[in-house]
Amino acid sequence: MTLLTLQGIRKSFGAVDVLHGVDLAVAAGEVVGLVGDNGAGKSTLMKTITGIYRADAGSIEFDGKDILQLDPGQRRELGIEMIYQDLSLAKQQDVASNIFLGREPTKRVFGLFPGFVDKAAMDRQAATMIERLGAHLPSISRSVGSFSGGQQQTVAIARALTFNPKLVIMDEPTAALAVREVQSVLDLIRRLKSEGIAVILISHRLNDVLSVTDRIVVLRHGRADADLVTARTNMNEVVSRIVGGGDISAAAAHEQRG
Ligand SMILES: Nc1ncnc2c1ncn2[C@@H]1O[C@H](COP(=O)(O)OP(=O)(O)O)[C@@H](O)[C@H]1O
Ligand SMILES: [Mg+2]
Repeated sequence: MTLLTLQGIRKSFGAVDVLHGVDLAVAAGEVVGLVGDNGAGKSTLMKTITGIYRADAGSIEFDGKDILQLDPGQRRELGIEMIYQDLSLAKQQDVASNIFLGREPTKRVFGLFPGFVDKAAMDRQAATMIERLGAHLPSISRSVGSFSGGQQQTVAIARALTFNPKLVIMDEPTAALAVREVQSVLDLIRRLKSEGIAVILISHRLNDVLSVTDRIVVLRHGRADADLVTARTNMNEVVSRIVGGGDISAAAAHEQRG
């Protein structure tokens, strides 16, 4: 079942055309790698999905709904979560505050009246979430700025998973991590997939992308320039598609499709 469909997404910043009509489809529970050179527009494209940026043209359907006019909060409620490259954590605040940042449990979540923040409930939920991830943090009440890169990544992931998303977008989640921490993020992606959650993984670490995805989409010159089945491609092909060489017959087939 198709969960997300982007068609003809365009986006410019002033005179700079970044996205020239991107098509992308993601099925429920599918793990899609999004790769491309620096500045190819990967982060920008993802932000048009979360609603941080409004696409200049094109359509976005999620879970059977046209979401183009929805704001980021509404898209989040439908089940779209993104873990940003910089993690967007409040470094001075503790784990629970970060997990519930901007969504502190009030009426909607815990049946309490709005404005009343139940810190004990937040701490309990935060601890449960961290445990579910199989992660360990030195303390749930310490400010997250004192944690290692991997621990901070855990908090950002816990935040993304707390409200039962259908799609999790991860922008370079392993760029700053130690080897063991990278493996735990990759394991987590596999677990999300097994729970039916779709993932879009942006990464420069092509070995990671090849090991964990079902499909790899190459963004180049503002378009989805290649759409490869991971089981039927390899490092050489992915690299050559990123830099723009590559398989002419596949390119021709892509032209015909598109
Ligand atoms: N808010 C912005 N304002 C102006 N230009 C931007 C903005 N965000 C991104 N860009 C430009 O858009 C292009 C694509 O950026 P980005 O989406 O971050 O690429 P990637 O994530 O693939 O490295 C770059 O040339 C970048 O400078
Ligand atoms: Mg980026």
